[in-house]
Amino acid sequence: MEKTLNIPKHIAIIMDGNGRWAKAKNRPRVFGHKAGADTLRKIVKYCGNIGVEYLTVYAFSTENWKRSQEEVSALMTLFKTYINSERKMLLENKVRFMVSGRKEGVSKNLLDAIEKLENETSKEYKMTLNIAFNYGGRAEIIDAIKKARELDEEITEENFSKFLYNDIPDPELIIRTSGEFRISNFLLWQLAYSEIYITDVYWPDFNEEELDKAIYSYNKRERRFGGRIDDK
Ligand code: FPP
Repeated sequence: MEKTLNIPKHIAIIMDGNGRWAKAKNRPRVFGHKAGADTLRKIVKYCGNIGVEYLTVYAFSTENWKRSQEEVSALMTLFKTYINSERKMLLENKVRFMVSGRKEGVSKNLLDAIEKLENETSKEYKMTLNIAFNYGGRAEIIDAIKKARELDEEITEENFSKFLYNDIPDPELIIRTSGEFRISNFLLWQLAYSEIYITDVYWPDFNEEELDKAIYSYNKRERRFGGRIDDK
């Protein structure tokens, strides 16, 4: 990665294509999700190395409950396993772990493990890994409005993000793998001005080189926030 490149401070990823990747190999969908978790580990480390400050990934949407019970339970188990297996890597690489999403429906056991790792990694960090789990963009907006009402606070465009699940800067770049052109209820408030990069590569095949391509593409574009370039 060239030093002169503008590295997005916050990258968000829709990790799509695990099922199709597994199907192409005649393996069960869960095999694809496990391979996806390996890819995530690689990308977290790489993002830390190149100076990305926030990485948000879509691991389980509020719609994903509609999948077979077998797949839902495999994804829950995989997340718990990921928390245990990555703890050391996250601490060593100074990665703060956080989760965005609704707690309802998630087991107490998993919620406890999440909270423990969130606390452990929050002391000293240079990068934040935000996992969207049991997450829906519309649900997040509704929950934010409820929170503001409970606190009896006025909502403005400027202060709205402080009511969201986690108050972190908006992503400059969103990546979706496996060639789908949809936002799928991801970060609806935060993506207002993000550049979108879509690649045909399935998530388990995504790697450092593919991330570089996304960052190069981001660098080639002009981010004008709806203004004119000569307004500056
Ligand atoms: C989308 O692929 C992927 C998911 C719904 C799950 C994402 C989970 C991981 C990458 C594993 C890492 C997760 C944790 C819990 C840390 P898909 O199943 O929709 O693929 P398809 O569109 O090809 O069927």
